[in-house]
Amino acid sequence: EAAKSISLKQDPTLPKAKVIKLRVAEQHRLQRVQVNGWIHRLRVQKGVAFIVLRDGTGFLQCVLSGDLANAYQTSTLTLESTVSIYGVIKPVPEGQSAPGGHELIADYYDIVGLAPSGDEAFTNKVQESADPSILLDQRHLALRGETLSAVMKVRATLLRAVREVYEEEGLLEVTPPCMVQTQVEGGSTLFGFQYYGEEAYLTQSSQLYLETCVPALGDVYCIQESFRAERSHTRRHLSEYTHIEAELGFLSFEDLLDHIERVISRTVAKVLADPVAGPLVKQLNPNFEPPKTPFMRLEYVKALDWLNEHGIPNEDGEKFKFGDDIAEAAERKMTDIIGVPILLNRFPLEIKSFYMKKCADDPRVTESVDVLMPGVGEITGGSMRIDNLEELLAGFKREGINPEPYYWFSDQRKYGSFPHGGYGLGTERILAWLCDRFTVRDCSLYPRFTGRCKP
Ligand code: 4AD
Repeated sequence: EAAKSISLKQDPTLPKAKVIKLRVAEQHRLQRVQVNGWIHRLRVQKGVAFIVLRDGTGFLQCVLSGDLANAYQTSTLTLESTVSIYGVIKPVPEGQSAPGGHELIADYYDIVGLAPSGDEAFTNKVQESADPSILLDQRHLALRGETLSAVMKVRATLLRAVREVYEEEGLLEVTPPCMVQTQVEGGSTLFGFQYYGEEAYLTQSSQLYLETCVPALGDVYCIQESFRAERSHTRRHLSEYTHIEAELGFLSFEDLLDHIERVISRTVAKVLADPVAGPLVKQLNPNFEPPKTPFMRLEYVKALDWLNEHGIPNEDGEKFKFGDDIAEAAERKMTDIIGVPILLNRFPLEIKSFYMKKCADDPRVTESVDVLMPGVGEITGGSMRIDNLEELLAGFKREGINPEPYYWFSDQRKYGSFPHGGYGLGTERILAWLCDRFTVRDCSLYPRFTGRCKP
């Protein structure tokens, strides 16, 4: 009853509060500030209430005492309610700890939006221990959790870092279309749709478009969504993922491998050096070791020997033989045992795509590469491209692809052909490796996979 009678008022004699975001809290210590955010943690006791406030840019412990703690409105507070809190940020007393080593001593606060209590309470909707499919239904709320939001912050830094590295490497960013009429990585994973009465697909890879850009713009890259109607329900396959792709001209296969290695190692170094993302990677993946260069180079045929020597069977449970695909399970086992990044290269023609260039010294194999990382396996696939028109047409034929819709791609081999190669990196796979996530689903904002297209 006494509490009900307390109505909170701001003291007009106090200095005007400066509105700040929590990421700059430290620079505003000992000044009167206003912080706006969501109640991340809450402890209300007689005479004092502790709120850990979250605004997306950081966390801040706020201390409410006296009337602020005893007021009726304080007894109604719930997790995820929005509040504006006024007061002064001070270092925490000796022997106590709080995010950032400081806390806000509040002199006033407003409720902006109360979140439900009872059955509808946030904690009943989202529990870290809940069934993954429940958490996926509640993704819009689960994103507020410390782990998912940390991964999304690392993701933003990773994309920024890779753009910086491409700038340094002299590549230009382009944005190819997502709606296309050609396949790149096999007809079985195409998502088709009706495009004004014509058959069209969601792009599986922007590679073919990037190839057409090189004569016009020099070396290029793009960061674009790719779509795959994967039938397999694995922890590293999404139906939509963010594909980082690059295409470079006038280089050898060795040059391409060196470039891929530089891009990966320099991007990771930038993420680790970032003041926000670096500590988050450390927190998510305390044992992460940046990859040492040069990466191990392993030829497909040598990998088969290694697998056979280590008793790891192929998909039929037999010894590996030339032409077998090294499927996910075997690939992971090998990568985890070897324990370092591997540039697995020179795959046989028949298990790779129509556009890959054959090796000059062995026409059974191609100038192709997969980058394998411990913990996730393949994060990158790339190759040198066929630059001879007849050979390309033979590739279409071998794969049973009608060359007609590819006239613009084939034209590259007519109007000034040149040696070139490129690759694609899976953003979510790099993140799973960097942030030690069990599945790439944790590395996508709203993951899409078999049976999941919401929220
Ligand atoms: O190996 P992929 O299929 O290669 C290509 O698409 C080439 N056309 C790229 C190029 O040369 N420009 O895919 C490249 C990478 C894979 O290594 C993997 O990291 C990622 O894309 N990836 C997927 N990530 C999540 N879910 C899926 N379903 C993925 N499929 C491929």
